[in-house]
Amino acid sequence: MSKIYAAGILGIGCYVPEKILTNHDLEKMVDTSNEWIIERTGIKTRHIAAPEQATSDLATIAAQRALQSANVKAEDLDLIIVATASPDMAFPSTACLVQENIKATKAAAFDLSAGCSGFVYSLTVASQMIVSGLYKNILIIGAEALSKIMNWKDRNTCILFGDGAGAAVIGRVEDGYGTLGFNLGADGSGGHTLCQPAGGSRIPASLETVEKDMHYIHMSGNEVFKFAIKVMGEAANAALQAANISANEVDLFVPHQANIRIINSAAKRLGLSMDKVVVNLEKYGNTSAASIPIALCEALEQGRIKKGDNVALVGFGAGLTWAACVLKWSME
Ligand code: UT7
Repeated sequence: MSKIYAAGILGIGCYVPEKILTNHDLEKMVDTSNEWIIERTGIKTRHIAAPEQATSDLATIAAQRALQSANVKAEDLDLIIVATASPDMAFPSTACLVQENIKATKAAAFDLSAGCSGFVYSLTVASQMIVSGLYKNILIIGAEALSKIMNWKDRNTCILFGDGAGAAVIGRVEDGYGTLGFNLGADGSGGHTLCQPAGGSRIPASLETVEKDMHYIHMSGNEVFKFAIKVMGEAANAALQAANISANEVDLFVPHQANIRIINSAAKRLGLSMDKVVVNLEKYGNTSAASIPIALCEALEQGRIKKGDNVALVGFGAGLTWAACVLKWSME
């Protein structure tokens, strides 16, 4: 355990389900308007999982694409971490379901619960296991089928979220590349502002909880918004400091895709021009733990990242939590 390796992303893949739900579709479902949604959030469409698709199904496709991109075989994986707030079931973990789907027979597997910050939390955990020499290849996945726990009568939440998955293979990279600095945090006092109240051990499932819509996502949007505005810049700055990189050396900023106003505020706080910021929420909405890897995956496909670039990932979410990571991009 005394060995120290550099850890980074070896390959990345993502998947969103086919069905698209537009703001105009939502106008027919709740008292809202296309204009309100665009002005307050920036979102135009979101993708919705098919009735037979669960989170592990989305995660599996993203995982297979990431393995292909990394040129790593499933049987060479040591560990699978799935970050999700919408697991197939409370247990077994969604990571174990993915392990079986991709036949990663030698991999340990567990889920990580940190809301929309889950992918960056997973990247942090996986990195340390690579750095220490404990493992060689770790698959991390952010995957959500939030549409399954959405109250489609609640305009405060149903306009925001979408389904999807993003995955990355984490392994050893050249010295000086890969993950350079992290900042993780949590403020449990805000836990009630974004939660799924029933179905756990506090309020077990009952006819009454179903009748009261307590198995759906409940959110005080405004409180989460204020939290996000505060922590996005702080977390990014702390991770940059840990990486010994200044904000003006950032080549690409990949924020959690929750709301364009939150992203604009974070970019302004860091002094970054918007051409350095990845924004795709107009197409996918907020895909929670999947949003950062999907955005990263698209940016790579669009040729927006090259080897040696400084890439900053920053998320916030249920918990309440926040997470930031700065990487020197190692993929050719
Ligand atoms: O990944 C973490 C997950 N959560 C988040 O990222 C959420 C962060 N929060 C937000 O993005 C914003 O708070 C929202 C987009 C959710 C809401 O925007 P807001 O500017 O904070 O609006 P608000 O909640 O203060 O509501 C303003 C008004 C209210 O009407 P009154 O009381 O002023 O008459 C709401 O009832 O807008 C109304 N409203 C809507 N109107 C049309 C709320 N939702 C809608 C809607 N369509 N969908």
